[in-house]
Parts: sequence; structure tokens; C-alpha cells
Amino acid sequence: MKGIEACKLVELPHIQDERGSLGFVESGEHIPFEIARIYYLYDVPDEKVRGAHAHKNLQQLVIPISGSFDIELDDGEIKKTIHLSSPNQGLYICPMIWRDLSNFSKDAVCLVLASEKYDEADYIRDYKNFELARSQIQ
Ligand code: TYD
Repeated sequence: MKGIEACKLVELPHIQDERGSLGFVESGEHIPFEIARIYYLYDVPDEKVRGAHAHKNLQQLVIPISGSFDIELDDGEIKKTIHLSSPNQGLYICPMIWRDLSNFSKDAVCLVLASEKYDEADYIRDYKNFELARSQIQ
């Protein structure tokens, strides 16, 4: 099972001209999975935290399309906080990583590209269960 070192910032292509900027992501090129779903977080009030779960199988790329926020990653042993603030950079998150998203700026839009459709059975929403699941897989 992969740890936090597998979660990486991905430089995304962007094309700028006098009309503005265009960014894009291709499955298999910039991310190691086929995109099955996208979702987005926006209008997150001050001080509110999103996430607070891990996924058993889901892979994701998180892109700050607008504004900024922090993501704390935790593989049960190591924690790391990453500030995302550029739509030219996404954060790849592998399975079995606990994540908390916080410190959203007022204009923040967090776009998530996901490898699977929504499935509540893929979530681990209890931190103790997350630690237990990691210890059983290792
Ligand atoms: P949740 O996973 O708690 O949000 P986050 O982790 O991003 O803070 O999801 C909030 C609600 O939205 C929950 O009832 C599940 C539902 N949901 C969907 O129906 N489809 C989706 O793709 C996602 C991500 C969530």
C-alpha cells in the first residue's frame, strides 16, 4: 500500500495568449487513472473543514480552479499540509490517505477529478477505522 510519498503535485499544462489562459488534464497523461467523475467544492464558509475521510480505492486529482485552500494528508504515520493556490498545479491523492481540506479563501473553487463514480462504501469516515484498515493491509 502506498503512503504519502505517492501523493504528488502535478504540473498541469496551460496555454496563455492575449485572450487569457486555458488549462487541461488528460487521463493517462497527467494523471494515472481514467476520469469517471468530477465534483467541485465552492462557497465553503470561513473556518469550515471538508474531507475528513479516506478512500479505499479512489484516486483523485485536486485542482484549485479559483482561490486557495490547504489540504492536510495523513497516511497514518506521516502528515503533510499542502497549500494549493494555482490552477496550473493539481494534487494527486492515492487510495488510503486521510485528508482534511481547510483555510478556503472566499473565492475558492476546488475541482476534483476522480477515478470512480460516487460510492459511499469506498469511504472511511472514522479515523480509528482508517488506522485499523491501514494496519491490516500492511
Ligand atoms: P462529502 O464526501 O462529505 O464531502 P467532502 O468530503 O468533499 O467534504 O460529501 C457530502 C455529501 O455529498 C454526501 O452526502 C455525499 C454527497 N456526494 C455525492 O452525492 N456525490 C459525490 O460525488 C460526492 C463527492 C459527494
